[in-house]
Amino acid sequence: MCGITAYVGDDMAVPRVLASLKKLEYRGYDSSGIAFFENEKLNVVKSVGTIDRLEERICPREKQSHIAIGHTRWATHGKANEANAHPHLSQNKSVCVIHNGIIENYLSFKSKLTNINFYSQTDTEVFANMLDVCLNQDFSTQNVLKNLNELTKQIKGSYAFAILLSSCKNKIYFAKQKSPLILGIGKNFSMLCSDESALCEKTEKVIYLQDGDYGFIDKSQAQIFHSGKETKRKQFAFNFSANCVSKCGCEFFMEKEIKEGTQSVLATLENLQSINTRRLEREMKNSKKIFVVGCGTALHAGEVFKSVLEKECGLDVILDYASEFRYKKPNIGKDSLCIFISQSGETADTLASASFAKKKGAKCLAITNVQTSRITKICPYVLKTQAGVEVAVASTKAFMAQLAALYYLVLLFAKIYNKKITFSLKNILNLCKNGNNDENFEQIAKIAQLIKDEKSLFFVGRGLDYFMAKEGALKLKEVSYIHCEAFAGGELKHGSLSLIDENTFVVCLLTQKELINKMHANIIEMQSRGAKVILISPFCELKDKVFMFVEIRQAKSSLMPFVVSRPLQELAFLCAKEKGLNPDMPRNLAKSVTVE
Ligand code: G6P
Repeated sequence: MCGITAYVGDDMAVPRVLASLKKLEYRGYDSSGIAFFENEKLNVVKSVGTIDRLEERICPREKQSHIAIGHTRWATHGKANEANAHPHLSQNKSVCVIHNGIIENYLSFKSKLTNINFYSQTDTEVFANMLDVCLNQDFSTQNVLKNLNELTKQIKGSYAFAILLSSCKNKIYFAKQKSPLILGIGKNFSMLCSDESALCEKTEKVIYLQDGDYGFIDKSQAQIFHSGKETKRKQFAFNFSANCVSKCGCEFFMEKEIKEGTQSVLATLENLQSINTRRLEREMKNSKKIFVVGCGTALHAGEVFKSVLEKECGLDVILDYASEFRYKKPNIGKDSLCIFISQSGETADTLASASFAKKKGAKCLAITNVQTSRITKICPYVLKTQAGVEVAVASTKAFMAQLAALYYLVLLFAKIYNKKITFSLKNILNLCKNGNNDENFEQIAKIAQLIKDEKSLFFVGRGLDYFMAKEGALKLKEVSYIHCEAFAGGELKHGSLSLIDENTFVVCLLTQKELINKMHANIIEMQSRGAKVILISPFCELKDKVFMFVEIRQAKSSLMPFVVSRPLQELAFLCAKEKGLNPDMPRNLAKSVTVE
């Protein structure tokens, strides 16, 4: 995980790098650091916590440097403390490195560096010292490039490095393997970033570096090498406004992004209608097996898809966590369609699963929110969701957009197999055009206040509601730190009912007409043990039978995930807010999980 950024050019580099780091905080924010030159001296400032705290530690005088590298960290090797924060210096302070990735064989390098006293537990400090030793006091560009090439070839794992040398005030070296690294070029400056959203507004061209690339940037050029030879990479025009994000008057991104949910459904469907899916449809038709793979919220969207596709079209779907998928040796081949769902398109496990499926000859389809992400390079078929940039760690509007793309796929399957199904594209469009379902705000705010200090909460549903209960539980636990667990209504009596007593709050979802009686029976079972049931449902006949009731709009049963998402997201957001937590940056998490 982690985000890296580097700037060399005419502007003051430290403010540029700090601004860029703030945009990369979604990749990790437990500590951060920056290196720059103050007069002739290479200086490093680090801090535990967010970039704001790092910024407070930098005095105006230090902002004058025209070259800087910066890092925001999600701890992999060692605790989130200042010693482990990047940049890391070699022992004699000649080499200064920031790194995104994991050097799996760092211990074998470390064992060779017997004369070094390491101050951190990181793999990156080992690399900084290895490079310093290899350079052997020769800091000429030629020697640095030669050693960078030779040393990185010995690394097992992933890396995006940006490197400053204390002897060189005008160059930043880099190397990339499996971790993302983008190069930005503008008038009299060059930048390196983990992702293009963090490039500065003056950037004119972007280069997507490839695995195995290394080289250097200075203010007027970028030189890229691959296996010892200089190489040219295609340059793309940079559109800053496309990456521009603001809270639009909201206090938090999560709040704003929840509000954008229905808009992202509409935008996604509009886009999908405009693209030619004929080739994809052919592959869909020729596929005997359908796999769905993703992580976290993305996989919950996949679960809804599986349930809807099985029910509406009678097609079986095999679904798995990306982190488990390839270790199970799934029986996939040319006859398989593998669907990979990922907001960021950068989740390491999802990428590895896609590469694995591709090698097996499967037809790979990515559903992603980021057009330039790595998953789009692996999968020949891509359906782009149109949620816009999602900043808050907990996925909300992107989940809605994923649902939209997946329901669109169900419609395509129905067309291919000539199935009459219970909903149409028009139904989804109308549902989302007819308001945002925010009429329950006050009731949800009351509930948030009531449950905010709970240690544990249950979410219960049946059928499609069970998958949405899983998503509701995930959302609430990630931003409010309350232990939440979701259960299928019928499963309660097989063990979990023993956890329920008169202090237990249970959030029940009931949106499926055919399940009213069954779910009502489950509610009574829980209430008989003292549970305080909060029911989210369009069926008002149950209003007086529960502790609290949130009325939602009624739509076709199969489309209810679009309706119930919003109150679940609001509940999580308001709970975090009530507790004084920052819902945009929950502890220990990161938006883009780029390590396996
Ligand atoms: C992280 C995020 C989740 C997200 C998951 C998958 O855990 O916190 O919100 O659902 O990664 O991310 P992806 O970008 O692959 O959808």
